[in-house]
Amino acid sequence: MKIINLIPAVLLPLICACSFRGGEGRVFEVQPGVTVYEPEDYDASQHSPSPIFIEELQPSGREATSVSDIRPRFSSAFGKNSVSIDVGDADLYGGGEVRSDLRRNGDSQTLWNTENPTGLLDNGKRMYQSHPWVLGVRKDGSAFGIIADNTWRSKLSLRGRVRFKSEGPAFRVVIIEKDSPQEVLGTLAELSGKMQLPPLWALGYQQCRFSYYPQERVAGLADTLREHRIPCDVIWMDIHYMDKYKIFTFDPSYFPDPKGLNDYLHKQNFKSVYMIDPGVKAEEGYFVNEQGLECDCFVRDATGGIYSGKVWPGECHFPDFTSPDVCSWWSGLYKDFMATGIDGVWNDMNEPSVFVDFGGTMPDDNVHRGGVNGLPEATHLRYHNIYGYLMVKASREGIMAANPHKRPFVLSRANFLGGQRYAASWTGDNFSDYSQMKEAVPMCINIGLSGQPFIGPDLGGFMRDCTPELMRHWMASGIFFPFARNHASVETINQEPWAFDVQTEDICRTAIERRYRLLPYYYTLFEEASRTGYPVMRPLFWSDSKDRSLRAEQQAYLIGNDLLVIPRWSESPVLPKDGWNLFSMEEQDDGYQSYLALRQGAALPTVKVFQNTVEYNTDSLTVLVNTGRDGKAVGYLYEDDGDGYGYLSGDFARYRIEVGTTLGTVTLNLVQMEGNRLKDKRFLRIGYVCDDGIIYSPWAEGTSVSMPEPQSPKTALNAENLEFVYLKNGSLSKKQTKMELILSNIVN
Ligand code: GLC
Repeated sequence: MKIINLIPAVLLPLICACSFRGGEGRVFEVQPGVTVYEPEDYDASQHSPSPIFIEELQPSGREATSVSDIRPRFSSAFGKNSVSIDVGDADLYGGGEVRSDLRRNGDSQTLWNTENPTGLLDNGKRMYQSHPWVLGVRKDGSAFGIIADNTWRSKLSLRGRVRFKSEGPAFRVVIIEKDSPQEVLGTLAELSGKMQLPPLWALGYQQCRFSYYPQERVAGLADTLREHRIPCDVIWMDIHYMDKYKIFTFDPSYFPDPKGLNDYLHKQNFKSVYMIDPGVKAEEGYFVNEQGLECDCFVRDATGGIYSGKVWPGECHFPDFTSPDVCSWWSGLYKDFMATGIDGVWNDMNEPSVFVDFGGTMPDDNVHRGGVNGLPEATHLRYHNIYGYLMVKASREGIMAANPHKRPFVLSRANFLGGQRYAASWTGDNFSDYSQMKEAVPMCINIGLSGQPFIGPDLGGFMRDCTPELMRHWMASGIFFPFARNHASVETINQEPWAFDVQTEDICRTAIERRYRLLPYYYTLFEEASRTGYPVMRPLFWSDSKDRSLRAEQQAYLIGNDLLVIPRWSESPVLPKDGWNLFSMEEQDDGYQSYLALRQGAALPTVKVFQNTVEYNTDSLTVLVNTGRDGKAVGYLYEDDGDGYGYLSGDFARYRIEVGTTLGTVTLNLVQMEGNRLKDKRFLRIGYVCDDGIIYSPWAEGTSVSMPEPQSPKTALNAENLEFVYLKNGSLSKKQTKMELILSNIVN
């Protein structure tokens, strides 16, 4: 009997209507190595204008030669549209924010921005941000990138092949094919935009909690940070500064004088960042709600009524950021707000989160009116994933209009591929536990490999009480993440560096001081990221994409190309071969600070400790140097005003740090390559990294310094020789063999 005979006749028409179909339609090349594949039933109006690309992808005019062995296969069945791509045995990364191993083969996730505290929901396979993007690295180190140009709710599966399955209409796919992961990331950034250079202060250490209030407590916190000499740049204001959680208001009893508070913080060289959520309290007489109703600025439900849903303030209305009028209204709200001296804005709850159930949001069939860049009217199902993206875009524009001479800083919880253009990100609510501390490394690296360089977790963990031991480990290993903010939830004990005991405070201070000493290197990297789209925090395979042994390492990580961070809690990390040298930044090892290693051939600029970036300067630079076999080393240094836009018209300096060895003398030259910014006086010294520690040249004024070549040997980095305190099942476990640490002092 034929199988078809078993199917009740009544189901046949249904099955036929839903049967598998699909296939390739138009294929065109955008530039060499970038090809767009459209399915045959592609309807551009369902996807364009794409939020991902800075401009619509245009055919180059050349015939799309098949430069890639990866080719999407489109299909459509049961109302879902899929693409399936055979990627051989390439190692897969990306997909933005997800709880997973770094190497993602075999994994899957849902692309649907979700408030997912601690990743409990779906085991963290749908998180606050969505990046329909996969980076593949082949055996030979060549790489490809896959963009599914689709905002609708979808699933990404990396089991055997790459598969995107969407609840929306047929979508197109862009394949980037290049010789290395670096080139793929660079091309992604060319297409989807780059993070703009942030103000220097955003690279400093930041102190947050839910919430510091009243304002006297904030002022007291500022005093304590300075008294305890914990370097810090930013204090964060969470929702309690608001009057009944109403955005763009200040609680009259807790924060009667925000301007006075911000002035006080500024006097102590702090910046302030204040939270703004999207939910507008649906309260009569509240100016934001009244204005929003008057301009018809809120998202509507399927019946045409104004949608309302619960968030912190109770019932709320939600601005419809798909409309240009709504965006200009929203942007305008920042004018008076920023005028109180606020420096940066924290956009939270913008998945958008609605307290209907765990991970809840507004209904799929809510209606957005569209209009931004020609977006059509459509349902929430289409625009949900870019709600946060559109919000931070409008916020950023408002902040820039309010403070036209300052660089904006916006931190967002929700975002989408391409959203690095508008805001930095953190990874949302995590637990204060060892496993989430460790998970933050692959999570943030994968976000970086998805186009967002400015990322970090809540250091110390958000929910549950942090312990002194955990705080020490987290600060010592997490302070190097691009975004370095300590944040804790309302129900937890205090989590500032001094909140535990003197030892914990000292360990945290040492870690934070390391960050400040490395600021010239960090700022140089952020500037590089703003030009190239490269991540700041990188996987080890970035150092050698041909070395397959590095492809899954997810405890140790790179900052830029030259600095290797090996957390003390690492368990048998796989480290790069070839000449990396350990160095210490302190005289004494406290047993918690991460191991740091410098790449052979690298020259890394450091400064003495500063308490904040207002005080920061590079008048005295110690350049750590790990010369190669040829006696040479190279590094870079970028400098500008640290804020404002002077750098766009030449007020910056980019130096190449050139180190060479001739006839037993090591010489360092600081060569200005670009920019009009001149520095009349600077002191330099070499910190020569070798087995005897760091051997210093004398200080020299000017752009050049020399020293006799130290004769000390250099031993290649080997994890076997390091002492680790590693953690198993959430508690401290075994110690590995102890070795003589290479200790040295680089204190000026
Ligand atoms: C959300 C944020 C968290 C914040 C809290 C209160 O949970 O993720 O960082 O502290 O809301 O605003």
